[in-house]
Amino acid sequence: MNMPSATVIQDLESRHVLQTYKRQPLVLVRGRGMHLYDSDGRGHLDFISGIGVTVLGHGHEGLATVIADQAQTLLHTSNLYYHPLQGQLAARLAALSGLERAFFCNSGAEAMEACLKFARRYWYSQGRSQRTRFVALEHGFSGRTLGALSVTANPHYREPFGPLIPGVTFVSPDDPSALRAAVTDETAAIIAEPLQGEGGVRPLPEVMAATIADVARATGTLLLADEVQCGLGRTGWPFHFQSFNWQPDLVTVGKAIGAGVPVGAALVSGRVAAQIAAGDHGTTYGGNLLATRAALYVIEQLTGTTDAVPYAHGGLIGHVREVGQYFGEQLEGLRERHAIVDHVRGAGVMRGLALTIDAQPVVDRAREAGLLVNRTAECVVRMLPPFIVSTDDIDAAVAILDRVLTEVAA
Ligand SMILES: Cc1ncc(COP(=O)(O)O)c(C=O)c1O
Repeated sequence: MNMPSATVIQDLESRHVLQTYKRQPLVLVRGRGMHLYDSDGRGHLDFISGIGVTVLGHGHEGLATVIADQAQTLLHTSNLYYHPLQGQLAARLAALSGLERAFFCNSGAEAMEACLKFARRYWYSQGRSQRTRFVALEHGFSGRTLGALSVTANPHYREPFGPLIPGVTFVSPDDPSALRAAVTDETAAIIAEPLQGEGGVRPLPEVMAATIADVARATGTLLLADEVQCGLGRTGWPFHFQSFNWQPDLVTVGKAIGAGVPVGAALVSGRVAAQIAAGDHGTTYGGNLLATRAALYVIEQLTGTTDAVPYAHGGLIGHVREVGQYFGEQLEGLRERHAIVDHVRGAGVMRGLALTIDAQPVVDRAREAGLLVNRTAECVVRMLPPFIVSTDDIDAAVAILDRVLTEVAA
């Protein structure tokens, strides 16, 4: 295929693609492992993985082979019929998460929409139809559809689209007593990202995590863990809620599960699943053969096994645990050397450098130097590399950041 120039590609987009994204000035045309290549043939070390998606790296031969094989066998049947893969994927997710059942969709926002509906449906079935409200956390992000937006705190994303779903209370992650006060006998679910991503790579304070678990248990309120960004191995846990010993009733999954093939899932506990009936929710594409075949392969790589067993520290998740520790240590070194790095946040290969200044100049200069990272919550340089990242890749990324932080501070 003849590749049009970067200018032609950008110009065509500027005329015909709805301008909802502020793109960085880079046209990416292919990838291999940890590297992406632009239209001028220049390589870039990928420490953002399409916002936490391409966990196996780029141009992965095993993933490409199963996708090609599935494309030649059968891509899609709809949910009118059975096919062999959806049950297998649901069983693997159940073994990893402890939640019995899965509903498949195509994105993180759709997973959140499904969970919001399932939470309300649960209480409706119990004859408690006044339990429709949600308690969510400030700095949380759950997607751009109207339901997901309604439980997303950032006023910048919300304001132009009101009125949103009523009955959502936001509390500060640093204020456990506000959470206790906010949960009433009208609350359907407490919603929390166990490690907040878009909000600035903010770990949930332990005392808040314990309070959430306690309030959910004491009041019977459903606990909805949004694991779209932090889940499926990114922090070294199959699901980050496991680091708190939470027992959520609803879990959203997205991003990593398809490694680039659009897949989402709502994981549902037995007690909630028992109240969901045929016709309560649905989607044409959700759980089709392409998506489930890719996701099965990804989970095999993450866990190092083809069996539906609880996680046993193998595969790429084990690798993330080890390399994630090294990553954290190297970033701490940057903090020690650079006054504009206020602190380092995150876990595993989900990390943020919280700066004392706007992060955009650092992101821009890093890109010019061949490293892709992104800015979130204005002052945070967010890093979500593929799970295959090595200590050498980390050294290379940290060396670039070291230079860039010096330049930006000057
Ligand atoms: C925690 C969390 N939930 C939900 C979403 C929405 O996912 P998607 O963009 O796939 O709709 C995101 C996306 O960044 C996310 O980080």
